[in-house]
Amino acid sequence: MKLNIGFIFGGNSTEHEISIISAVQAMNNLDNEKYNVVPIYLTKDGKFYYSEEYKKVETFKDLNTAIKRGTEILFTKKDGQLVLFRNSFPYKAVKNIDIIFPVLHGYNTEDGSIAGYLELLGVPYCESDIYASSIGQDKIMQKMVLRASGVNVCDYCYFYESDYQKDSAKVIQDVMQIPFPLIVKPARQGSSVGIGIAHNKDELIEKIETALEYDEKILVEEVVEDLQELNIAVLGDNYAYELSDIEEVYGKDEILSYQDKYLSGAKGSSKGMASTGRKIPADIEGKIKAELEDMAYKTAKALNISGVVRIDFMLNKKTNKLYLNEVNIIPGSLAFYLWKSKGLEYKDLLDKIINLGIKKFQNKDKKLSSFTTNVLANFNGTKGIKK
Ligand SMILES: Nc1ncnc2c1ncn2[C@@H]1O[C@H](COP(=O)(O)OP(=O)(O)O)[C@@H](O)[C@H]1O
Ligand SMILES: [Mg+2]
Repeated sequence: MKLNIGFIFGGNSTEHEISIISAVQAMNNLDNEKYNVVPIYLTKDGKFYYSEEYKKVETFKDLNTAIKRGTEILFTKKDGQLVLFRNSFPYKAVKNIDIIFPVLHGYNTEDGSIAGYLELLGVPYCESDIYASSIGQDKIMQKMVLRASGVNVCDYCYFYESDYQKDSAKVIQDVMQIPFPLIVKPARQGSSVGIGIAHNKDELIEKIETALEYDEKILVEEVVEDLQELNIAVLGDNYAYELSDIEEVYGKDEILSYQDKYLSGAKGSSKGMASTGRKIPADIEGKIKAELEDMAYKTAKALNISGVVRIDFMLNKKTNKLYLNEVNIIPGSLAFYLWKSKGLEYKDLLDKIINLGIKKFQNKDKKLSSFTTNVLANFNGTKGIKK
């Protein structure tokens, strides 16, 4: 029997459109001998729509038209099975779903929100759990956890908008403990949105104000000079992790911009996402490769990653110092292009991710999550509860 795979994409994030592209690529590469694709579009205002037409990227050229072409659905369960239920007359079950495959990028979705929602529903899904997802989204939490796990990260500091409102001069003074140039980032965005480099105090203020438009939590880091950007994908779960090829990516600007990542170069499903420049495998020494792979393992283990993730590193080519930059819990294009030389086609990658999702659900199901007790029968309402 073929499994019905519900692909969820879209969502209230600055990477809404990128998520649609990633999902359409994945849906069109799924092995249709084994699986049926069920496309589920999450609108920017949090509604779910289903349509077979969502398998085509053209459907989304105008988002309002895309919505009109779909059927608004709600998720419900029947006999333990997830069901898409039509949310308008005639109310009825539209599709059964066996497993959800979230292809969502960014804040409000990839950050553990969708994982949490699917955990609440009690359905299998193909993604890392809530903990990995939320730490993966927060560039500050990520650095704290990974530094404590023996992974090298660059010098950083952080603050909240509330600190800045209370005493901006003190915040600026604290931040300037790290020497210029500095890079300022909204802590929980992606795709280079709101990120800027400051070479002096005036620019620092300007970049902070830009970053504050996107997040109330701000990260400031030392700039890694003579930069080579190196990415690797990790596939698996805490039983075993496989590592992909390492890619080198480069852009036109001082930092890899949204433009560099998605708009400037070759388009098309065979290319993946970043377009300006990419070299696979990256031209690096064996020692750096081994160090990068070791840090990738440590990161996967510390976060308890499951499915496929992409981990991005920065190398200072002069000092040969390697830093973890960030973890992408649901990477653009699911990083399928990094597995080619390992003989793993996109279809097989998706197959592995689905199997990992099923295994995660089955393993969780074996653990006790509730008790049958007489606590409520014996509770008389006069005592406090100790937890
Ligand atoms: N510490 C740094 N030093 C130099 N360049 C950086 C540094 N951090 C980020 N960059 C540049 O900015 C880009 C975007 O930053 P990143 O933290 O990866 O954010 P995003 O989640 O938006 O991709 C990187 O790809 C890199 O080009
Ligand atoms: Mg990045």
